[in-house]
Amino acid sequence: MPNFYHPYSDAFLADPWPVFRRMRDEAPAYFVEDLNTWALSRFEDVWQAGQDKKHYTANHGTTLDALVGGWTTPAAFVFMDPPEHTLYRGLVAPLYQKGSVDALEQKLRAVTRKLLAPALQAGELEIYQLATAVGLHTIADFIGVDYADLAHARRLLDIFFRREPGIQGTTPQGNQALGELQAFIMQLVHGFRVKAPAKNTHADAWLNAMINGKQMTDEQIFFTMFSLTVTGSDTLALACAGTIFNLSQHPEQFAAVRADHSLVPHAFAETVRYDQPTNILGRRVVQDLELHGETLRAGQNVVWLFASANRDEREFPDADQYQISRRPRRNLSFGTGLHACLGIHLARLEGKIILEELLAAIPEYEVQTPRCTRVYGEFLQGYNHVPITFRPQ
Ligand code: HEM
Repeated sequence: MPNFYHPYSDAFLADPWPVFRRMRDEAPAYFVEDLNTWALSRFEDVWQAGQDKKHYTANHGTTLDALVGGWTTPAAFVFMDPPEHTLYRGLVAPLYQKGSVDALEQKLRAVTRKLLAPALQAGELEIYQLATAVGLHTIADFIGVDYADLAHARRLLDIFFRREPGIQGTTPQGNQALGELQAFIMQLVHGFRVKAPAKNTHADAWLNAMINGKQMTDEQIFFTMFSLTVTGSDTLALACAGTIFNLSQHPEQFAAVRADHSLVPHAFAETVRYDQPTNILGRRVVQDLELHGETLRAGQNVVWLFASANRDEREFPDADQYQISRRPRRNLSFGTGLHACLGIHLARLEGKIILEELLAAIPEYEVQTPRCTRVYGEFLQGYNHVPITFRPQ
């Protein structure tokens, strides 16, 4: 049994790429014994698994922490199988359809410009923070809560997801923050029940839903808000910060984007391939299956290493190179199958607008590379601090 990968190992987290390569080449179905968890690292395997409804369930969670940590499975659609998944996802899905999202363009540009304005005078801006704020504004409007309230929830979520070397998964402070978050969101949910939420918001849909003859409980609404806040603001921010960072490392490609803003979506797409924010997601096996000579047994966990799959040279030529000229045939950056990203159109539009507005307002700037930092831990990955400096305007 190979023994060179562990998702919580400090050495692996410090530099995952050579380990991913070895897994793809030597052990594409890798068993992590103490976690009773398989890890799939090749593009084709993750692609097929995402569409396989027979062998996998999302009912026990889709994050590593939930799968191995014995969480009581939260009652949100991200952690459900059909038919419930379809019904609960359907309550919020209309706002994420391409047509609805495209209609937000002017509003999103106005929000981005407003958030950019103070930084323009200061001569310094942090990209992750800017993109987080834009993402939170949209999700707050979609849910039907105040931005300040969702920003507070996001601060608590950040503590919950912060990892410390030597501690596997959530820290004691993280668990405390989760308690506070739950109490805080429950108050917001109570508020929805006292004063009817605005029409065409998620809160309105949740309160009026009747699924299998039942209304949604406060706990269900809490977990759904929790997942939309994370998915709607963190991945986007990592993708935007990563795009600015990676372009700064490739000056010719940066010059091309600066000269032709129609390349912005390609730079964003290449960043989410090259440095996939949703590093690890997974499922529980419900029926034994054979893969690469191994048997994945019912009851075991499987993680899909999206970040590795997107660097698989079997799918992408020169996979370890950042090339915005790529036009890949298939794409795993936003997942595949039933749980494929709900926010794909929103993420692409927000990413495009944030990066375009930034380039228009600040054509010349310097990325402060030594001050850039990456997320630490097994959950999401990428740049979470990318400051730039420029001549104040
Ligand atoms: C660049 C940014 C983003 C990336 C790379 C990304 C990636 C992904 C991936 C890989 C999945 C598949 C999860 C799985 O199979 O378990 C997913 C699911 C999801 N994403 Fe995104 N996402 C992004 C932005 C967003 C945004 C802005 C939202 C807005 C709310 C969002 C909401 C969701 C939701 C709700 C799911 C779960 C869908 C389900 O379980 O049915 N994502 N995303």
